Amino acid sequence: MRFEPVAYMEWAKFGSGAALNLARSGLPGLSFEDLGLDLRSIQLNGDHPYGWRPLIEAIAGRYGAGPDSVVPTIGTSQAVFLVCAALLNNGDGVYVEKPAYEPLLAVPRALGADIRRFNRPFERRFGVDPEEFEKGFPKGVRLVVLTNLHNPSGVRLAPEDVRTLAGVAARHGALVLVDEVYLEFLAAGNCRTSFGLADNIIVISSLTKAFGLAGLRCGWVLAPPRIVPAIRRVVDHLYVEHVFPSEQLSARVFPLLDELKAKSRVWTDPNRAIVREFIESEPRLQWIEPDGGIVAFPRVVDRSEDGSGGDRLARRLRETLETSIVPGGFFEDSRHFRLGFGLPASDLRRGLENIRLKL
Ligand SMILES: Cc1ncc(COP(=O)(O)O)c(C=O)c1O
Repeated sequence: MRFEPVAYMEWAKFGSGAALNLARSGLPGLSFEDLGLDLRSIQLNGDHPYGWRPLIEAIAGRYGAGPDSVVPTIGTSQAVFLVCAALLNNGDGVYVEKPAYEPLLAVPRALGADIRRFNRPFERRFGVDPEEFEKGFPKGVRLVVLTNLHNPSGVRLAPEDVRTLAGVAARHGALVLVDEVYLEFLAAGNCRTSFGLADNIIVISSLTKAFGLAGLRCGWVLAPPRIVPAIRRVVDHLYVEHVFPSEQLSARVFPLLDELKAKSRVWTDPNRAIVREFIESEPRLQWIEPDGGIVAFPRVVDRSEDGSGGDRLARRLRETLETSIVPGGFFEDSRHFRLGFGLPASDLRRGLENIRLKL
């Protein structure tokens, strides 16, 4: 096992801050006052082996899973690690989407997995071609990894598409890990989890992105019950118990989620229209409009054609205009940049005008 630097993580923590930050992928954080919770009854200590039961039930209830399928985690990040460590042996194949969020490559790589890739190209609207996926399916793959909504593009795979990919994986004896940390940005009726679509699907997610609740670090794994003991074994190697006050707060927040979501959509939906209008008026940019969420992955139409228009734009914006976007190089394609639009409309408009100036 060898833990190499994760360049995107380091940049996100220390290099992405700017007066106008269009690099974020989560909603601005809420306060305790926003939630209106009475905190006096939060206990410091309690009985919660492998997760506090009311939290497990809240997660299970929202996603139609049995409580025996739920493992609470510290964010989606820890869920990635727990699942990979539970399932992968040195040299096992892991078939990961491209472009990908870097930790989804870094974690299996650190565990000694053999990383192989399937494409989600711009030209295919960041979708997966099931025939190409199957034709390229490498021998020895134990785990397929994808995001839904896709990070960086915000594109959604429909349940039937996920089911098709899971069917291919099953024929090769592989499991499918679906990272759904952005799924809850979709409207309630459209927000179907992949968990349960096939019995080789494992889902990971958290409350960190779509609700302004990142500080709770409330994440989870949803896995077929036969896989849960292996995940719990990894928990036993990492920590004794989850953070009890956070588990209680998180359980209390679950009944509020739909209301929080409705409130945030009131201002994020118009922001999407602002971005659409901007990109459609700007011949030097192309995009695939995201199906949900507050990020998109536009491409810079680059006359110099050195293939790094997105990275160059990001550098110029930061150096001269105190404006931050994510250089596409962190998502394996320097022609692009990831644009976050979950900020007040006036700041978004200023950020977009700065982009126009530096294109
Ligand atoms: C695809 C994806 N998975 C996981 C995470 C991390 O999520 P969490 O904050 O829940 O650990 C991120 C954060 O950017 C992400 O983009």
